[in-house]
Amino acid sequence: MVQLFNSRAAIEPLLAEVAARQRAVLEGGRYILGPEVEAFESEFAAYLGVAECVGVANGTDALTIALRALGIERGDEVVVPALTFYATAEAVVNAGANPVFCDVDPETLCMTADSASAAITERTAALLPVHLFGNPAPMGELTDLAGRHGLALLEDAAQAAGARLDGRMAGSLGDAATFSFFPSKNLGGFGDGGAVVTDDPELAAQARRLRFHGSEDKSIHTEVGYNSRLDELQAAGLRVLLPYLNDWTAARRQAAEAYGRLGLGEVVGLPRETPGAAHCYHLYAVSAPDRDSLRNALAEAGIGSRPYYTTPLHRQPALTAFAPASPLPAAEQAAEQNLALPMGPGLGEAEIATVVSAVGDALAR
Ligand SMILES: Cc1ncc(COP(=O)(O)O)c(C=O)c1O
Repeated sequence: MVQLFNSRAAIEPLLAEVAARQRAVLEGGRYILGPEVEAFESEFAAYLGVAECVGVANGTDALTIALRALGIERGDEVVVPALTFYATAEAVVNAGANPVFCDVDPETLCMTADSASAAITERTAALLPVHLFGNPAPMGELTDLAGRHGLALLEDAAQAAGARLDGRMAGSLGDAATFSFFPSKNLGGFGDGGAVVTDDPELAAQARRLRFHGSEDKSIHTEVGYNSRLDELQAAGLRVLLPYLNDWTAARRQAAEAYGRLGLGEVVGLPRETPGAAHCYHLYAVSAPDRDSLRNALAEAGIGSRPYYTTPLHRQPALTAFAPASPLPAAEQAAEQNLALPMGPGLGEAEIATVVSAVGDALAR
Protein backbone atom coordinates (compact mmCIF):
# COMPACT_ATOMS: atom_id res chain seq x y z
CA MET A 1 0.00 0.00 0.00
CA VAL A 2 1.62 3.26 -1.11
CA GLN A 3 -0.50 6.41 -0.99
CA LEU A 4 -0.36 9.02 -3.74
CA PHE A 5 0.31 11.69 -1.08
CA ASN A 6 1.11 11.32 2.55
CA SER A 7 1.14 15.01 3.26
CA ARG A 8 0.65 14.64 7.03
CA ALA A 9 3.86 12.65 7.46
CA ALA A 10 6.14 15.67 7.07
CA ILE A 11 4.08 18.08 9.15
CA GLU A 12 3.05 15.68 11.91
CA PRO A 13 6.11 16.46 14.10
CA LEU A 14 5.38 20.19 13.73
CA LEU A 15 1.71 20.15 14.63
CA ALA A 16 2.26 20.89 18.33
CA GLU A 17 4.21 24.02 17.44
CA VAL A 18 1.59 25.05 14.89
CA ALA A 19 -1.12 24.60 17.51
CA ALA A 20 0.84 26.65 20.07
CA ARG A 21 1.39 29.52 17.62
CA GLN A 22 -2.23 29.43 16.49
CA ARG A 23 -3.40 29.37 20.10
CA ALA A 24 -1.40 32.53 20.73
CA VAL A 25 -3.25 34.12 17.80
CA LEU A 26 -6.59 32.98 19.21
CA GLU A 27 -5.74 34.43 22.60
CA GLY A 28 -4.34 37.64 21.10
CA GLY A 29 -7.67 38.30 19.41
CA ARG A 30 -6.24 39.80 16.20
CA TYR A 31 -7.41 37.56 13.36
CA ILE A 32 -7.18 39.63 10.15
CA LEU A 33 -4.10 41.47 8.83
CA GLY A 34 -2.01 41.50 11.98
CA PRO A 35 1.58 40.72 12.94
CA GLU A 36 1.58 37.07 11.80
CA VAL A 37 0.60 37.96 8.23
CA GLU A 38 3.12 40.79 8.19
CA ALA A 39 5.91 38.51 9.49
CA PHE A 40 5.02 35.71 7.08
CA GLU A 41 5.01 38.16 4.18
CA SER A 42 8.52 39.34 4.96
CA GLU A 43 9.81 35.81 5.66
CA PHE A 44 8.38 34.41 2.42
CA ALA A 45 9.68 37.38 0.40
CA ALA A 46 13.14 36.84 1.91
CA TYR A 47 12.95 33.10 1.17
CA LEU A 48 12.19 33.83 -2.49
CA GLY A 49 14.60 36.74 -2.80
CA VAL A 50 11.90 39.25 -3.77
CA ALA A 51 11.09 42.64 -2.29
CA GLU A 52 7.38 42.24 -1.63
CA CYS A 53 4.84 39.60 -0.65
CA VAL A 54 1.11 40.26 -0.29
CA GLY A 55 -0.84 37.52 1.48
CA VAL A 56 -4.28 36.83 0.02
CA ALA A 57 -7.09 34.34 0.57
CA ASN A 58 -6.07 31.70 -2.00
CA GLY A 59 -3.98 31.12 -5.12
CA THR A 60 -6.88 31.87 -7.47
CA ASP A 61 -7.47 35.33 -5.97
CA ALA A 62 -3.71 35.85 -6.05
CA LEU A 63 -3.81 35.42 -9.84
CA THR A 64 -6.83 37.73 -10.32
CA ILE A 65 -5.34 40.39 -8.07
CA ALA A 66 -1.89 40.13 -9.66
CA LEU A 67 -3.34 40.44 -13.17
CA ARG A 68 -5.28 43.55 -12.18
CA ALA A 69 -2.28 45.00 -10.35
CA LEU A 70 -0.26 44.47 -13.54
CA GLY A 71 -2.78 46.67 -15.33
CA ILE A 72 -4.58 43.94 -17.29
CA GLU A 73 -7.89 45.37 -18.48
CA ARG A 74 -11.15 44.30 -20.05
CA GLY A 75 -10.55 43.03 -23.58
CA ASP A 76 -6.84 42.35 -23.05
CA GLU A 77 -5.54 38.93 -23.99
CA VAL A 78 -3.44 36.82 -21.66
CA VAL A 79 -1.55 33.80 -23.01
CA VAL A 80 -2.17 30.75 -20.78
CA PRO A 81 -0.96 27.17 -21.27
CA ALA A 82 -3.80 24.77 -22.12
CA LEU A 83 -2.50 22.22 -19.60
CA THR A 84 -2.88 23.57 -16.07
CA PHE A 85 -5.41 23.74 -13.26
CA TYR A 86 -8.62 25.51 -14.28
CA ALA A 87 -7.97 28.44 -11.89
CA THR A 88 -5.17 29.80 -14.07
CA ALA A 89 -7.64 30.69 -16.85
CA GLU A 90 -10.57 31.35 -14.50
CA ALA A 91 -8.59 34.18 -12.89
CA VAL A 92 -7.91 35.74 -16.29
CA VAL A 93 -11.64 35.80 -17.07
CA ASN A 94 -12.47 37.13 -13.59
CA ALA A 95 -9.92 39.92 -14.13
CA GLY A 96 -11.96 40.91 -17.21
CA ALA A 97 -9.47 39.66 -19.80
CA ASN A 98 -9.55 36.86 -22.39
CA PRO A 99 -7.35 33.78 -22.01
CA VAL A 100 -5.65 32.68 -25.22
CA PHE A 101 -4.49 29.10 -24.91
CA CYS A 102 -1.09 27.99 -26.10
CA ASP A 103 0.46 24.55 -26.31
CA VAL A 104 3.06 23.20 -23.90
CA ASP A 105 6.43 21.64 -24.52
CA PRO A 106 5.88 17.87 -24.88
CA GLU A 107 8.81 17.09 -22.57
CA THR A 108 8.62 19.69 -19.80
CA LEU A 109 4.84 20.30 -20.07
CA CYS A 110 5.43 24.06 -19.70
CA MET A 111 4.77 27.08 -21.92
CA THR A 112 7.82 27.96 -24.03
CA ALA A 113 8.68 31.04 -26.08
CA ASP A 114 7.82 29.04 -29.22
CA SER A 115 4.45 27.85 -28.00
CA ALA A 116 3.53 31.26 -26.54
CA SER A 117 4.60 33.13 -29.71
CA ALA A 118 1.92 31.34 -31.71
CA ALA A 119 -0.76 32.83 -29.41
CA ILE A 120 0.41 36.46 -29.41
CA THR A 121 -1.78 39.05 -31.18
CA GLU A 122 -1.88 42.85 -31.05
CA ARG A 123 -4.28 42.57 -28.09
CA THR A 124 -1.94 40.42 -25.97
CA ALA A 125 -1.07 42.16 -22.70
CA ALA A 126 0.56 39.40 -20.65
CA LEU A 127 2.09 35.92 -20.62
CA LEU A 128 1.02 33.67 -17.77
CA PRO A 129 3.36 30.65 -17.65
CA VAL A 130 2.64 27.92 -15.11
CA HIS A 131 5.42 25.99 -13.38
CA LEU A 132 3.48 22.81 -13.96
CA PHE A 133 3.76 20.06 -11.33
CA GLY A 134 6.65 22.09 -9.83
CA ASN A 135 8.82 22.29 -12.96
CA PRO A 136 9.79 25.90 -13.71
CA ALA A 137 8.82 27.19 -17.16
CA PRO A 138 11.78 28.51 -19.22
CA MET A 139 11.58 32.04 -17.84
CA GLY A 140 14.71 33.33 -19.63
CA GLU A 141 13.26 32.89 -23.11
CA LEU A 142 9.80 33.99 -21.89
CA THR A 143 11.31 37.19 -20.43
CA ASP A 144 12.93 37.91 -23.81
CA LEU A 145 9.65 37.26 -25.61
CA ALA A 146 7.67 39.45 -23.20
CA GLY A 147 10.29 42.19 -23.57
CA ARG A 148 10.15 42.08 -27.39
CA HIS A 149 6.35 42.45 -27.37
CA GLY A 150 6.01 44.77 -24.35
CA LEU A 151 4.04 42.20 -22.34
CA ALA A 152 3.70 41.68 -18.61
CA LEU A 153 5.05 38.35 -17.35
CA LEU A 154 3.23 36.69 -14.45
CA GLU A 155 4.35 33.32 -13.05
CA ASP A 156 1.71 30.95 -11.73
CA ALA A 157 3.95 29.39 -9.09
CA ALA A 158 1.10 27.71 -7.18
CA GLN A 159 2.77 24.32 -7.57
CA ALA A 160 6.37 25.52 -7.43
CA ALA A 161 7.21 26.68 -3.89
CA GLY A 162 10.83 25.62 -3.43
CA ALA A 163 11.66 25.09 -7.13
CA ARG A 164 14.56 26.94 -8.76
CA LEU A 165 15.72 27.95 -12.20
CA ASP A 166 19.40 28.74 -12.76
CA GLY A 167 19.75 29.03 -8.99
CA ARG A 168 16.94 31.56 -8.54
CA MET A 169 13.67 30.72 -6.85
CA ALA A 170 10.58 30.09 -8.94
CA GLY A 171 8.39 33.06 -8.12
CA SER A 172 11.24 35.56 -8.42
CA LEU A 173 11.60 35.36 -12.19
CA GLY A 174 8.77 37.43 -13.72
CA ASP A 175 7.20 40.85 -13.11
CA ALA A 176 5.16 39.14 -10.40
CA ALA A 177 4.25 35.63 -9.29
CA THR A 178 1.45 33.97 -7.40
CA PHE A 179 1.41 31.13 -4.89
CA SER A 180 -1.23 28.90 -3.34
CA PHE A 181 -0.97 27.56 0.20
CA PHE A 182 -3.77 25.03 -0.32
CA PRO A 183 -3.04 22.14 2.10
CA SER A 184 -1.73 19.73 -0.58
CA LYS A 185 0.80 22.24 -1.93
CA ASN A 186 4.53 21.89 -1.15
CA LEU A 187 4.10 24.78 1.30
CA GLY A 188 0.55 23.92 2.29
CA GLY A 189 -1.29 25.52 5.19
CA PHE A 190 -4.27 24.45 7.24
CA GLY A 191 -6.94 25.88 4.98
CA ASP A 192 -6.88 28.22 2.00
CA GLY A 193 -4.20 30.83 1.46
CA GLY A 194 -2.21 32.49 -1.28
CA ALA A 195 0.25 35.25 -2.09
CA VAL A 196 1.27 37.73 -4.76
CA VAL A 197 5.02 38.40 -4.84
CA THR A 198 6.99 40.98 -6.79
CA ASP A 199 10.01 43.27 -6.73
CA ASP A 200 7.82 46.22 -7.73
CA PRO A 201 6.62 48.28 -4.73
CA GLU A 202 3.87 50.00 -6.77
CA LEU A 203 2.49 46.67 -7.95
CA ALA A 204 2.57 45.37 -4.36
CA ALA A 205 0.78 48.47 -3.09
CA GLN A 206 -1.91 47.99 -5.73
CA ALA A 207 -2.28 44.30 -4.76
CA ARG A 208 -2.60 45.39 -1.09
CA ARG A 209 -5.39 47.80 -2.01
CA LEU A 210 -7.16 45.23 -4.18
CA ARG A 211 -7.15 42.61 -1.40
CA PHE A 212 -8.86 45.15 0.86
CA HIS A 213 -11.83 46.44 -1.17
CA GLY A 214 -9.68 48.80 -3.19
CA SER A 215 -8.78 50.84 -0.13
CA GLU A 216 -5.65 51.88 1.72
CA ASP A 217 -7.30 53.36 4.77
CA LYS A 218 -10.63 51.45 5.06
CA SER A 219 -12.41 54.72 4.41
CA ILE A 220 -11.72 55.88 0.85
CA HIS A 221 -12.12 53.22 -1.88
CA THR A 222 -10.15 54.07 -5.00
CA GLU A 223 -11.25 51.01 -6.99
CA VAL A 224 -13.54 48.03 -6.85
CA GLY A 225 -11.43 45.30 -5.33
CA TYR A 226 -11.93 42.15 -3.29
CA ASN A 227 -12.14 40.92 0.24
CA SER A 228 -9.18 38.53 0.00
CA ARG A 229 -6.70 38.33 2.86
CA LEU A 230 -4.45 35.61 4.16
CA ASP A 231 -5.60 35.30 7.77
CA GLU A 232 -3.57 35.36 10.95
CA LEU A 233 -4.17 31.69 11.84
CA GLN A 234 -2.95 30.55 8.42
CA ALA A 235 0.06 32.85 8.51
CA ALA A 236 1.02 31.60 11.99
CA GLY A 237 0.93 27.99 10.71
CA LEU A 238 2.83 28.76 7.52
CA ARG A 239 5.59 30.51 9.51
CA VAL A 240 6.23 27.23 11.34
CA LEU A 241 6.44 25.26 8.07
CA LEU A 242 8.48 27.63 5.87
CA PRO A 243 11.88 26.87 7.48
CA TYR A 244 11.42 23.19 6.48
CA LEU A 245 10.53 23.80 2.84
CA ASN A 246 14.07 23.40 1.50
CA ASP A 247 14.53 20.07 3.29
CA TRP A 248 11.18 18.83 2.00
CA THR A 249 12.09 19.89 -1.52
CA ALA A 250 15.43 18.07 -1.26
CA ALA A 251 13.59 14.94 -0.08
CA ARG A 252 11.15 15.16 -3.01
CA ARG A 253 14.05 15.55 -5.43
CA GLN A 254 15.77 12.55 -3.86
CA ALA A 255 12.60 10.48 -4.32
CA ALA A 256 12.46 11.54 -7.99
CA GLU A 257 16.10 10.56 -8.39
CA ALA A 258 15.34 7.15 -6.86
CA TYR A 259 12.46 6.55 -9.27
CA GLY A 260 14.91 7.05 -12.14
CA ARG A 261 17.73 5.04 -10.56
CA LEU A 262 15.44 2.09 -9.82
CA GLY A 263 14.47 1.81 -13.49
CA LEU A 264 11.07 3.48 -13.78
CA GLY A 265 12.25 5.15 -17.01
CA GLU A 266 12.50 1.73 -18.67
CA VAL A 267 8.71 1.32 -18.55
CA VAL A 268 7.14 4.82 -18.60
CA GLY A 269 8.18 8.34 -19.63
CA LEU A 270 9.79 10.14 -16.69
CA PRO A 271 9.10 13.81 -15.89
CA ARG A 272 11.62 16.10 -17.62
CA GLU A 273 13.09 19.18 -15.98
CA THR A 274 13.37 22.42 -17.92
CA PRO A 275 17.10 22.99 -18.67
CA GLY A 276 18.68 24.77 -15.68
CA ALA A 277 15.72 23.93 -13.43
CA ALA A 278 15.50 22.23 -10.06
CA HIS A 279 11.96 20.81 -10.18
CA CYS A 280 10.28 20.67 -6.75
CA TYR A 281 8.08 17.68 -7.69
CA HIS A 282 4.80 18.93 -6.31
CA LEU A 283 3.55 16.05 -8.45
CA TYR A 284 5.64 13.26 -9.95
CA ALA A 285 3.78 12.79 -13.23
CA VAL A 286 4.99 10.11 -15.63
CA SER A 287 3.60 9.53 -19.09
CA ALA A 288 2.15 6.22 -20.20
CA PRO A 289 0.26 5.59 -23.44
CA ASP A 290 -2.07 3.14 -21.71
CA ARG A 291 -2.48 5.36 -18.67
CA ASP A 292 -5.94 4.27 -17.58
CA SER A 293 -5.20 0.54 -17.47
CA LEU A 294 -1.91 1.27 -15.67
CA ARG A 295 -3.86 3.24 -13.10
CA ASN A 296 -6.33 0.39 -12.58
CA ALA A 297 -3.54 -2.16 -12.20
CA LEU A 298 -1.77 0.07 -9.67
CA ALA A 299 -4.99 0.47 -7.69
CA GLU A 300 -5.31 -3.33 -7.54
CA ALA A 301 -1.74 -3.46 -6.22
CA GLY A 302 -2.63 -0.89 -3.52
CA ILE A 303 -0.73 1.99 -5.10
CA GLY A 304 -2.27 5.42 -5.41
CA SER A 305 -1.98 7.28 -8.70
CA ARG A 306 -3.99 10.00 -10.42
CA PRO A 307 -4.13 11.64 -13.84
CA TYR A 308 -4.24 15.45 -13.85
CA TYR A 309 -6.01 17.89 -16.16
CA THR A 310 -7.53 15.16 -18.34
CA THR A 311 -9.67 17.80 -20.08
CA PRO A 312 -7.35 20.58 -21.19
CA LEU A 313 -8.59 24.11 -20.55
CA HIS A 314 -9.56 24.92 -24.13
CA ARG A 315 -12.05 22.04 -24.00
CA GLN A 316 -13.57 22.96 -20.61
CA PRO A 317 -17.30 23.73 -21.02
CA ALA A 318 -16.93 27.11 -19.28
CA LEU A 319 -14.09 28.17 -21.58
CA THR A 320 -15.23 27.03 -25.04
CA ALA A 321 -15.58 30.68 -26.09
CA PHE A 322 -11.80 30.89 -25.80
CA ALA A 323 -10.98 27.67 -27.69
CA PRO A 324 -8.21 28.25 -30.25
CA ALA A 325 -8.69 27.57 -33.97
CA SER A 326 -5.66 25.30 -34.23
CA PRO A 327 -5.05 22.13 -32.22
CA LEU A 328 -2.73 21.97 -29.21
CA PRO A 329 -1.30 18.47 -29.68
CA ALA A 330 1.22 18.34 -26.82
CA ALA A 331 -1.35 19.49 -24.25
CA GLU A 332 -3.85 16.95 -25.63
CA GLN A 333 -1.32 14.13 -25.47
CA ALA A 334 -0.20 15.01 -21.93
CA ALA A 335 -3.85 15.18 -20.84
CA GLU A 336 -4.31 11.61 -22.13
CA GLN A 337 -1.06 10.15 -20.87
CA ASN A 338 0.02 11.81 -17.61
CA LEU A 339 -0.23 9.87 -14.38
CA ALA A 340 0.97 11.16 -11.01
CA LEU A 341 2.67 8.48 -8.90
CA PRO A 342 3.29 8.60 -5.14
CA MET A 343 5.48 11.55 -4.13
CA GLY A 344 6.22 13.45 -0.96
CA PRO A 345 9.00 14.37 1.42
CA GLY A 346 8.40 11.23 3.50
CA LEU A 347 8.44 8.73 0.61
CA GLY A 348 11.09 6.06 1.32
CA GLU A 349 13.22 4.11 -1.11
CA ALA A 350 11.45 0.82 -0.26
CA GLU A 351 8.09 2.35 -1.19
CA ILE A 352 9.58 3.73 -4.40
CA ALA A 353 10.91 0.27 -5.27
CA THR A 354 7.42 -1.16 -4.65
CA VAL A 355 5.90 1.40 -7.02
CA VAL A 356 8.53 0.81 -9.71
CA SER A 357 8.04 -2.95 -9.66
CA ALA A 358 4.24 -2.60 -9.64
CA VAL A 359 4.42 -0.33 -12.70
CA GLY A 360 6.70 -2.86 -14.42
CA ASP A 361 4.36 -5.76 -13.55
CA ALA A 362 1.30 -3.83 -14.75
CA LEU A 363 2.86 -3.02 -18.11
CA ALA A 364 4.18 -6.58 -18.60
CA ARG A 365 0.66 -8.02 -18.32
C1 LIG B 1 -1.43 25.90 -11.20
C2 LIG B 1 -2.43 26.39 -10.18
N1 LIG B 1 -2.87 27.66 -10.25
C3 LIG B 1 -3.74 28.16 -9.35
C4 LIG B 1 -4.20 27.39 -8.32
C5 LIG B 1 -5.23 27.98 -7.40
O1 LIG B 1 -4.88 27.97 -6.07
P1 LIG B 1 -6.01 27.91 -4.93
O2 LIG B 1 -6.57 26.53 -4.91
O3 LIG B 1 -5.27 28.26 -3.68
O4 LIG B 1 -7.04 28.94 -5.27
C6 LIG B 1 -3.74 26.07 -8.18
C7 LIG B 1 -4.12 25.19 -7.06
O5 LIG B 1 -5.08 24.79 -6.67
C8 LIG B 1 -2.86 25.55 -9.15
O6 LIG B 1 -2.42 24.29 -9.07
